[in-house]
Amino acid sequence: MIKAQSVRKVFGSVTVLDSVDLTVAPGEVVSILGSSGSGKSTLIRCINGLERLDGGSITVDDFDVSKPKELAEARKRSGTVFQMFNLYPHMTALQNVTLAPVEVLKRPKAEAEAEGRALLASVGLGDRADAFPSQLSGGQRQRVGICRALAMKPRYLLLDEVTSALDPEMTADVLDILAKLAKEGTTMVFVTHEIEFARTISSRVVFLEKGRLVVDLPTEQFFAADGGLANPRIAQFLSKMRKD
Ligand SMILES: Nc1ncnc2c1ncn2[C@@H]1O[C@H](COP(=O)(O)OP(=O)(O)O)[C@@H](O)[C@H]1O
Ligand SMILES: [Mg+2]
Repeated sequence: MIKAQSVRKVFGSVTVLDSVDLTVAPGEVVSILGSSGSGKSTLIRCINGLERLDGGSITVDDFDVSKPKELAEARKRSGTVFQMFNLYPHMTALQNVTLAPVEVLKRPKAEAEAEGRALLASVGLGDRADAFPSQLSGGQRQRVGICRALAMKPRYLLLDEVTSALDPEMTADVLDILAKLAKEGTTMVFVTHEIEFARTISSRVVFLEKGRLVVDLPTEQFFAADGGLANPRIAQFLSKMRKD
């Protein structure tokens, strides 16, 4: 379980996250929606222990990300994929995928490589394992990024706008993979602007507005006229997203 309680994050004089409560149970797919600047990425970064909290707490399977001794355990449980793929340019796709399992989890190299190849094959990159990032398209790189996170066998997958830098065709390829992962029961926290996709794969949708988590509803209710849509800010946000 990922549990954020009364989370507060301040940058300078700006409160970026304010009293945020969010619980994600194993098996859930939770989409985080909200305008640009509402704090979505900061929340993901806080869950992953990349930002220090200014208040409240976040635990991942009861490991407190604010406690240095517990952070490593918390991080083992959550894998993060960011908008920018951040692959190591001097390593092949396979090397990018196997680096952490070998270095961090101390997995035998041959075993990690066999698993890495299987992962890459599962996202349609079986024949690109030995390519360098510069030889891959953006969509292929993002699929490698997803494999790199999955190689650590995280219980929770955190995805921050993983398709926003991709063209529509590549976006579709990546969303197909995420849909497959959701179907297999992967727990996901998913920041996205792909509203229709979020609606299809999420069990719950939360909406952040200016650092406050204002709505947290089962997907169907979020998109219902008397549910999330009754909030004028959400209605406005959704209609704008659909026009873009
Ligand atoms: N490292 C940082 N230093 C200062 N301000 C930041 C930093 N990271 C994010 N912010 C600010 O925090 C707010 C929320 O940002 P972010 O979490 O990236 O929003 P979102 O992902 O929803 O677009 C924005 O106003 C942004 O400018
Ligand atoms: Mg963001």
